[in-house]
Amino acid sequence: MLDPDRPALVLAPMEGVTDAPMRAVLGESGAFTFAVTEFLRVAQTVLPRHVFHRHVPELLTGARTPTGLPVQVQLLGGDPGRVAASAVVAVSAGATAIDLNFGCPAPTVNSHDGGASLLRQPCRVRAVVAAVRAALPLAIPVSAKMRLGWDSTDAVFENAAMAADGGADWLTVHARTRTQGYAPPVFWPVVGRVREMVSIPVVANGDIQSLADFRRCRDETGCRHYMLGRGALADPRLAVGVARELGLLPPGPDPDADWAGPLRKLVERTAGHPEYRPDKTVRRLKQWLKMAEDLGRFDRFAAVKKAATVDEVFAALRPAG
Ligand SMILES: Cc1cc2nc3c(=O)[nH]c(=O)nc-3n(C[C@H](O)[C@H](O)[C@H](O)COP(=O)(O)O)c2cc1C
Repeated sequence: MLDPDRPALVLAPMEGVTDAPMRAVLGESGAFTFAVTEFLRVAQTVLPRHVFHRHVPELLTGARTPTGLPVQVQLLGGDPGRVAASAVVAVSAGATAIDLNFGCPAPTVNSHDGGASLLRQPCRVRAVVAAVRAALPLAIPVSAKMRLGWDSTDAVFENAAMAADGGADWLTVHARTRTQGYAPPVFWPVVGRVREMVSIPVVANGDIQSLADFRRCRDETGCRHYMLGRGALADPRLAVGVARELGLLPPGPDPDADWAGPLRKLVERTAGHPEYRPDKTVRRLKQWLKMAEDLGRFDRFAAVKKAATVDEVFAALRPAG
């Protein structure tokens, strides 16, 4: 899935945002190498097959979106045995790669022993990675995704070493601490030091919102592998631009700057989807445009916000007059 010798551009997991319809839409450009699913939390019980198929329907079609993008399943949990047993179920359900979440900042997740809270006990990062690695065939890659630490960026070195020692095939680092939430700054140079320290590939992540950001991140981390989250939604042309810089796509004309095209694709992908009623589709369109507004890429959100139907959202996209 991630070839250490070739650049990769990964679509970030974003809970409540990058679900199956969105993964299919964002997979269509061919810019991404693979996508990571929203986290599936392993709490008191091993996750059953139907949970994987409900949240990751791609598992029924070769772990690829209908647009051909490979999908990696992400698990979150602090109990090595239950996470490993869930990974085994995921693979039997069709998963071809597993990612382990050590970065989620949500208080509910952290207070239930998962996500970034494990970064305070690096041995536990190793225990979870090692248990999953030992439970799966070697042909199934296992990776870890982490923040720099709970409240200090220094924690990343020990945690990264533990993930590598546990057998992770690669490591994605979101260049912030847990206490930062999503506040600036991102510490890309620290990701570069992690890359130099561990022998496994490192995927750089956090605040790549423009081509200029990408180039700066590349210069400061020295990485070959990158993950895009919010920036990929806020500017649907960004992934194509980054993929071209990485040599993953040939040069070509700039994709359309118009919002209606990508949003229409999401409407088409959600039509008939069992978990989407029209009001949910409207919420998802607004969520997408709100992310673009937050990152300064869309300036008509005030009009979109009032829309009650899909048609009204599209009408609000057009400048008044
Ligand atoms: C709404 C939202 C949901 C997220 N859900 C997940 C998740 O399920 N698993 C995960 O590892 N990271 C999750 N993240 C973190 C992103 O994968 C990524 O690390 C972070 O947004 C920084 O990258 P970006 O600046 O490119 O968005 C989430 C982020 C956002 C904004």
